[in-house]
Amino acid sequence: MKLLIKNGRLIDPSQGLDGVGDLTIEDGKIAGIALHAAPQRGGRAKNSPSDARREVSSPDDLRIIDARGMVVMPGLIDMHVHLREPGYEHKETIRTGTMAAIRGGVTTVCCMPNTFPVNDNASVTEFIKRKAAEEGFCTVLPIGAITKGQKGEELAEIGTMTKEGCIAFSDDGNPVMNSLIMRRALEYSQAFNVPILSHSEDLSLSRGGVMNEGLLSLTLGLTGSPAEAEQIMIFRDIVLAELTGGVLHIAHVSTERSVEIVRHAKERGVRITAETCPHYFTLTEEAVRGYDTNAKVNPPLRTARDVEAIIRGLRDGTIDVITTDHAPHHKDEKMREFDEAPSGISGLETALALSLKLVEKGDLTLGQLVEKMAQNPARILGTEKGTLRVGADADVVVVDTAREFLVDPDSFISKGKNTPFRGWTLKGAPVFTIVGGVVYEW
Ligand code: DOR
Repeated sequence: MKLLIKNGRLIDPSQGLDGVGDLTIEDGKIAGIALHAAPQRGGRAKNSPSDARREVSSPDDLRIIDARGMVVMPGLIDMHVHLREPGYEHKETIRTGTMAAIRGGVTTVCCMPNTFPVNDNASVTEFIKRKAAEEGFCTVLPIGAITKGQKGEELAEIGTMTKEGCIAFSDDGNPVMNSLIMRRALEYSQAFNVPILSHSEDLSLSRGGVMNEGLLSLTLGLTGSPAEAEQIMIFRDIVLAELTGGVLHIAHVSTERSVEIVRHAKERGVRITAETCPHYFTLTEEAVRGYDTNAKVNPPLRTARDVEAIIRGLRDGTIDVITTDHAPHHKDEKMREFDEAPSGISGLETALALSLKLVEKGDLTLGQLVEKMAQNPARILGTEKGTLRVGADADVVVVDTAREFLVDPDSFISKGKNTPFRGWTLKGAPVFTIVGGVVYEW
């Protein structure tokens, strides 16, 4: 079947593309692009979304989508997602997590290894791949654990797991506290050319911390985790990346100084990339004032100064990627008292709209947003996706940047209803998500 997406604003920084035109898809691949007009000024296509006639009658083998007034971009790649299967299917499954992903415009997810059993050997990797092929709605790329059982003591079988299809390695949820083990992991990453995604947290400083350390944690009577716990480990990992020539990616950057440390390392030519998540550029620690466990996340929400620095880091390219760190938890678990509740935010269904806020405020261009949510993750992971180039997999999202929606976790597809954005009205939603040429309409 052929698909023609007409009259949309095509955005693809991988080929310097920003203009109104048509995109054709054939046999699951991008088959052609034809631009109508010069790039638009002011961030949005001229035509109003209300003009959009979404589907036009078509011959049997041709489906036409009229994307007038909408943005057509590469399907998003989320390189930091917890799908929870195997082992924690009460929180999420590969099926529900990938469905939530496509609802959010995400066509590729990388799933973290903190499952049960941990994805620290090829048979778990194989299980995830098989399940994803049978039940998944989008591409699933497994991330293997750096250490066996994510215990930080003994390296996992990085070579075998790379051959089995692990695209990156991380002990996410836990740091690798032992510097020698991290050194070895980075050596392997250099040898196999796979990134190490560092959960940067010095446990000796952060242990017991359930929110950001500062005046507010004191006021609330909660144990704080200092920003330095993150910064020290980012610095250590940069030093080790220099020593080894390893491929280092810093996960969920949340503090001002972390951004500065990464910026400085990049200036010196270290092979390093970094990500942040929508909650770190949208919320401050104030969100936990009412002891809302949905705002409990690790690393914790920080201060307004940190939020500003994260946005600056996104703008100037210090932070390459926006991920969700989609961390679904069961309602009952999040209903425990603040100290006891697990950390994490269910992010797949709100990430695009929260990121589009940065575009609306003028902090990022739409092209930069696509870079951070599709093109750069593809580059870091070494996949051919994240582009609208002819011949690439037809992973595409058609977004109505003006469509408003109320965040109602009860209507999330994800099993994880744990969002601090409940009741917010957000703007910008996928209307069509296309995965390898298969169309989902919202
Ligand atoms: O808040 C978090 N939740 N941070 C992590 O690093 C792990 C994640 C989870 O697995 O729930």
